[in-house]
Amino acid sequence: MVTRKDSLSVESISTGLKTQVVGRKIIHYPRLPSTMTAARQEARRRAPEGTVVVADEQTAGRGRRERRWLSPGGCLALSVVLYPGLAQLSSLIMIASLAVMHSIRAVTGLEPQIKWPNDVLANGKKVCGILVENDLKGKKVEYAVIGIGINVNIKVAEFSEIEPVATSLSDELGREVSRRDVLRRLLVELDRLYLQADETVFEEWRDNLVTLGKPVRVETGGRIYEGMAESVARDGSLTLRLTNGAMMTVVAGDVTLRHGQ
Ligand code: BTN
Repeated sequence: MVTRKDSLSVESISTGLKTQVVGRKIIHYPRLPSTMTAARQEARRRAPEGTVVVADEQTAGRGRRERRWLSPGGCLALSVVLYPGLAQLSSLIMIASLAVMHSIRAVTGLEPQIKWPNDVLANGKKVCGILVENDLKGKKVEYAVIGIGINVNIKVAEFSEIEPVATSLSDELGREVSRRDVLRRLLVELDRLYLQADETVFEEWRDNLVTLGKPVRVETGGRIYEGMAESVARDGSLTLRLTNGAMMTVVAGDVTLRHGQ
C-alpha cells in the first residue's frame, strides 16, 4: 500500500537503480526552499554529472517566468545537474518531457501528453511542470539543471490557485501512487534519453506534442497572438500560422489550446 509518506530516502531510491549517469549521486531533503537552488550550488561545486536533488516538500518552489510552484508533501520535486555541450542544451526540455511521459505511463497506465513548451498533461490537465536553467560562459555551458515537479498524491481541489488547470496522478486514478516508483523510473528514462542524444529524441518529442495542429493562443513578450500551431524546430521553437496568415516563431511563451486545455 502506498502512503503519503512513501519513502524517498537515498537508499530506497538508489538500491538496484540501473543508470549510468543520472542518479550517480542522490541528495534528499525532507524540506527545503527549492531543489533548483540546491542543485545549482552542487553544480558550482562541480558535483558529479547526474547528481539528483530531491525534496519531500519545497517552501519556495519556482516555476517558469518567475512564478511560484506549489510542492506540498505528496508531490515529487527534483532537480538534476548536467554538464551538456551547447548543442545538447535545447534538447534537455525534450528529454525531460519524454522521460516524465514514459515514467507516468509505465507506473500508472495513464496516457500523458506533452504541451509545448514544457508541461505534461494527464487527461488534458497539467500534472507536471519542467524548468531548465543553465549557466553559460560565452559558448561554454558551465552547467544545466533540469527541475521537474510532478503532482503525484495531492488533492488539487484543495489548492484553488491551480485547481482549474491542474490535476494529480492520485486525482486521476482515485488512489495513491508510489512517488518512489515514479522517481526511480523517471531517473532511468532521463538517463536513457540523455545518453541517447540523437535525432530520435526530437522526433519523439515532436510526435507527442498535443499542441501541434491545434488552434492556440500564445502569450510571449507581453503580447498575445492567436493562430494555428504548425510545427516545431530542432531548437524547440514553435512555428505559428497567425490568423492573418503570417508565420511567427515563438521561442518561449505560454500556450493555451483554444478548444479546451
Ligand atoms: C513550470 O511549469 O512553471 C515549471 C515548474 C517546475 C517545478 C520544479 S519542482 C522541482 C524544481 N524546483 C523548483 O523550485 N522548481 C522545479
